[in-house]
Amino acid sequence: MKHDYPLSKPIHFNEVLEAAMADPSRRQILRGGLGLSALSFLGLAGCAGGGGGTAAANALNFTATPLNPTYDGVSVAAGYQTQVLFKCGDPINGTTPAYSNLGTDTAASFDFRAGDHHDGGYFFGLGANGKWDEDVSDKGLLCINHENITPVFLHPAGQSSPRTAEEVQKEFRAHGVSVVEVNKVNGKYEVNKSSAFNLRVTASTDMDINGPLRGHASQVTKYSPTGVKTRGTVNNCASGYTPWGTYLTCEENWYGYFKSSTTGKSASQVASDLRYGVTNDDSTTSLTHWNAWSTPTGDDFARWNTTITGATSADDYRNAANTYGFNVEIDPFAPLSKPRKRTAMGRLAHEGAWVAPVTVGKPVVFYMGCDARSEYIYKFVSTANWSAADINGGLAAGDKYLDSGKLYAAKFNSDFTGQWLELTAGLTGTQPVPIASSTQTFTFGDPSDAYLNTRLAADKIGATPMDRPEWGAVNPVNGEVYFTLTNNDTSNQSVSRTVSRTDAANPRSYKDNTSSSRTGNMNGHIIRWRESSSDPTALSFAWDIYVFGAEPDDLSNTNVNLSGLTAENFVSSPDGLWFSHKTGILYIQTDDSGTFLDSTGSTNMLLAAIPGTVGDGSTVSVTNTLGTATQTVTTKVGKVGQLKRLLTGPIDCEITGITESYDGKSLFINIQHPGDNTVVANLATPTSSWPYDNSTTPDGNPPTSTTAKSNRARSATIVLTRIDGGVIGTDFTLY
Ligand code: FEO
Ligand code: CA
Ligand code: CA
Ligand code: CA
Repeated sequence: MKHDYPLSKPIHFNEVLEAAMADPSRRQILRGGLGLSALSFLGLAGCAGGGGGTAAANALNFTATPLNPTYDGVSVAAGYQTQVLFKCGDPINGTTPAYSNLGTDTAASFDFRAGDHHDGGYFFGLGANGKWDEDVSDKGLLCINHENITPVFLHPAGQSSPRTAEEVQKEFRAHGVSVVEVNKVNGKYEVNKSSAFNLRVTASTDMDINGPLRGHASQVTKYSPTGVKTRGTVNNCASGYTPWGTYLTCEENWYGYFKSSTTGKSASQVASDLRYGVTNDDSTTSLTHWNAWSTPTGDDFARWNTTITGATSADDYRNAANTYGFNVEIDPFAPLSKPRKRTAMGRLAHEGAWVAPVTVGKPVVFYMGCDARSEYIYKFVSTANWSAADINGGLAAGDKYLDSGKLYAAKFNSDFTGQWLELTAGLTGTQPVPIASSTQTFTFGDPSDAYLNTRLAADKIGATPMDRPEWGAVNPVNGEVYFTLTNNDTSNQSVSRTVSRTDAANPRSYKDNTSSSRTGNMNGHIIRWRESSSDPTALSFAWDIYVFGAEPDDLSNTNVNLSGLTAENFVSSPDGLWFSHKTGILYIQTDDSGTFLDSTGSTNMLLAAIPGTVGDGSTVSVTNTLGTATQTVTTKVGKVGQLKRLLTGPIDCEITGITESYDGKSLFINIQHPGDNTVVANLATPTSSWPYDNSTTPDGNPPTSTTAKSNRARSATIVLTRIDGGVIGTDFTLY
C-alpha cells in the first residue's frame, strides 16, 4: 500500500497515521510508538501546524528555556528534569576502579571505561530472552559513540611531545563505541556494571571489511595481506539502527588521523587522498596529522602513516586510510562478534545512517550524509527485500541487506523536485578534484570506485553540494526525511557557500554580524523531502526547507531569518535530529561553535518541534549581497510555528546524540566536550566543570557556591524525563 500526499493538500497527522497503521507490513517501524494518546495529540497538533489560513497557537505549551550562556549546567523547561547516566571514564565492569579524572587512569583501563566525546547512540530494548525487544523500555542496551577526545583532560597535563605509547593507547581506547546495559531502578536508569553485554569497541578493535571492497587491492595492508580486515574505528559521529536490531556507527572525520606522503603514489591515489583530506605531509620535521598517533614505535602506531615504506602494499600501511570512512555494523546482542565495515554504503565523512520505514518484500533504505562543506546526501537501497523473519538476525542479516545494494546521491533542482543519481552509472573517464588550487585528476576505471571514492563518483554524476549534511531523521508518521545542513562558512573559499554558489536548496550566503571575517551560510538550515509516492526506493522526490537557522543578531534581517524565528526558538548550526517514535515530536540539537555567536550570548541547546509536511509553507526570494557580489535565489520555506527551546547545555559543549526509550518517557541526550576551550595552563580552573558541582559529586546538579570551578569537565549521556514520569511531550498541549 502506497500513500501519496500532494503538495497542495494539508495533511492531518491522524489521517496519515491511520493509513499507515492500516498497512500491516508497515507496523514494524511503528511498533512501540504512536499509540492512541499520540494519535489524538498529533491529530490536534498536526491540524494546527499543517493547514493553510489562520495561524495556529503553539501546541508546545511550555515556557521556552531561557538562554543562560554563563551557566555551567543543563537547564530544562519547567516540569522536566535530567539525570547524569554515563560519563567519560565511568567503569563498565565491577573490577575497574573509579575514574580519577586527573588524567592518571591507565590506557589499559579504558578497555573497560566509557570513552570520551559522547555522540550518536541508540537504545535497544533488551528482552528477557536476551534479544532485541521494542516492547521493553526498562531494560536496554545503550550504544554510544565516542567521536573524539579532549586531550587536555584525558592526560595529566595534555599531550606530550613526542607522543608516548601509553598516551596514544589511551586515546585509541577513548574513541570508538560503548555498549552498556541500562536498567531502570526506582524510576531512574543506571548502568548494570555486571552485564555480560557491556562492551567497548575502540580504535584498535579487529574488524572485517565486508561488501564490494572485501579483498579489493585498495584494502591490502601489512595487517591484512588479503584485504579482508582492519583495526579500529575513529571519529564515530552519528549512528543508525537497523530493522533487524543491530547498531551502525559511522566514521566521520577519519582522514585527519592519518599521516601521508605522496611519494611513489599513483596520480589517482593522490587525487583520492586530497579529495578526502588525507594530509600529504612529506615533511620530516613536522607532523600535521591529528594527535600524531603514528609517532611512537610499533606496528599499532605505524598503521596511522600511509607513507610507502615497503616493497608492496602488504608490507606497509599505504592503504590504511582506504580502510576507513565506512559505516560499521555492531551487534550489541552478540558482544563477542566482530564488527563489520559495510563498504557497499560508500566511503564518506559518514555522519550517520537513518533507515526508512520498512515494508515486507521491499528493499531496506538508509539515508546518509557526508559532513563536510559542500558535500552530498546519499541513499542506500538494499538488493535484498525485507523479511520480518530477519529481526534479531544479527550480522548475518547485515550481510544480507548491507553488503549489496544501489548507492545514490541527491540532486536538488530549483523547481523543488529532486533526483537520486546512481553512483555506479557512467563512472568512466576522469574527474578533476573540485578544490580550487588542486591540479589533481582522478581516473575512473574500477567498478569499486563508487564505494572507495564515493565523493569523486558523486562529483562526476552531478549531485548537489550541500551546506554540511549532519543528522537525518525520518518522520515515522509519513516517511518524510529531514536533514540538518549545519552551516557552510567561507573559511575554505574553494568549496564553501559563496554568494555565486548559492542555489535553491542552499540559498543563503551572508556576513556574520559580529565575527566580521566570516561569511557564508552561517547558521545552517534543515532540508526535508518526500519521496515520490512516499516510496523510499523512488528515484525522485519533492523538497522544501523546513527551517532556516538565524541568530539573535540576524532576527530582523529578512534575507537571513526566512523562518521568522524569535528569541524563544532561534536555532543556529542544527546538528542532531530525532523523531520520537512515541509522539512524532521532532527534536533538534545544535552544535554552534561559538565563533558564530553574537554578543547577546548563547549556548547549545535542544529544541522541540511539531513539523508540518513538505510544501506547507511558501515560496520566498533571498537576496545575497556581499561586497560587489549579489545573487537572488528563489526557494521554498516550510511553515514554522511549533518550535521551542527545551534544554540548554553547559559551557563549551555541543548537544549531540539523542535516542529514546520505546515508552517515550526518557530521552538519552549527549553532552559532548564541555570545557574544551580549557588550555593546559588553566587546568586548575577549567572553563567548565560539568557535571560536577563545586564539591566533588558529578551529578549534574547546579553549582552550590561561587567558588571557582576546579574539576575537569566530562562528556556524558544524560536522561531527560518528565518530573511526573509521563511521556515526554504529551504535556506540551491540552487535548
Ligand atoms: Fe561529528 Fe558531523 O559532526
Ligand atoms: Ca551572527
Ligand atoms: Ca554531529
Ligand atoms: Ca556538528
